[in-house]
Amino acid sequence: MKQEIETIQTDALEAIGAASDEKSLDDARVAFLGKKGRLTAASAGMKDLSKEEKPVMGQLLNAARQAITSAIEAKQASLADEADKKSVQGIDLTLPSRPLPAGAIHPLTQVKDHAIQVLRRMGFALAEGPEIETEFHCFDALNTPEDQPARNEKDTFYFDSGKLLRTHTSSVQIRTMEKATPPVRIIAPGSAYRRDEIDATHLSVFNQLEGLYVDTDVKLGDLKGTLEFFLRSMFGDDTEVRFRPHFFPFTEPSFEIDIKLHAKGQEPKWIEIAGCGMVDPAVFESLCEVRGDDVFSPDKVTGYAFGMGIDRLAMIKWGIRDIRLLIENDVRFLKRFA
Ligand code: PHE
Repeated sequence: MKQEIETIQTDALEAIGAASDEKSLDDARVAFLGKKGRLTAASAGMKDLSKEEKPVMGQLLNAARQAITSAIEAKQASLADEADKKSVQGIDLTLPSRPLPAGAIHPLTQVKDHAIQVLRRMGFALAEGPEIETEFHCFDALNTPEDQPARNEKDTFYFDSGKLLRTHTSSVQIRTMEKATPPVRIIAPGSAYRRDEIDATHLSVFNQLEGLYVDTDVKLGDLKGTLEFFLRSMFGDDTEVRFRPHFFPFTEPSFEIDIKLHAKGQEPKWIEIAGCGMVDPAVFESLCEVRGDDVFSPDKVTGYAFGMGIDRLAMIKWGIRDIRLLIENDVRFLKRFA
């Protein structure tokens, strides 16, 4: 029997060595170690052996099974290795990969973040309000009469419910003052909507940044100083800023702010960048009515408000001639700001 085991082991190792793929290796395993395999058959002879012979043969059988099993495992590993090598044949694994283009922050977001950063440092906190607004928050509470052209169906997107897409972020002034108590010092960046004909300077959705400061003794000089400082932080210390008298229903007096634009190859020109003014007492009075208290009574507080187009800020900062470029997401354009 010892002889037989040795022969089986030699044959098995030979068959394993000769196996050229997974299939023939498995055939060899079955032929020697399988239920009907040769080594299994040989161990059936154990039962005819004497007590003394049994443990000796048992050990031999085990050793043979071990040797065959580890030969199969080794062969399996070397076959897998070969398959790996074959699959990458002709491929240069040391070739550097193609670089993935890195993303960058959109110019509008860059300007918005910069503006928020400057204003927050000056003590303004972020505030927000809904884009689908009531006529009350968008117009009535802002002292805007029914027949004001901005309330027209032609200029504003109305829903059947009577609600509308806010035409400016000034509604956030009301939303904030309905809940807060003075002093209030907030900025509210966000989208605004108008039924404008789309062209190089108009979109029906654009971005505004609203500001509001209400306290016991806020003066026009505070408004002027704050906005001049802000615009110089955005566009450079030597930026020229001009306040031009204007009209808004919710501020009195009201101004439009222009900054002087020095575009390459062009005469410098003034360009409107924001609206602002001292909060109209009528706005405070309407708030007192809604709140049922007098913390915002025009006898107690004064305030200023401003609103500007973030798209406009970006266009001025980089000399972008067409506002549509800001929403088309043409990578060739966006790359300039990466
Ligand atoms: N809401 C005005 C607009 O959209 C801007 C503005 C805001 C003016 C606050 C004065 C005060 O044109």
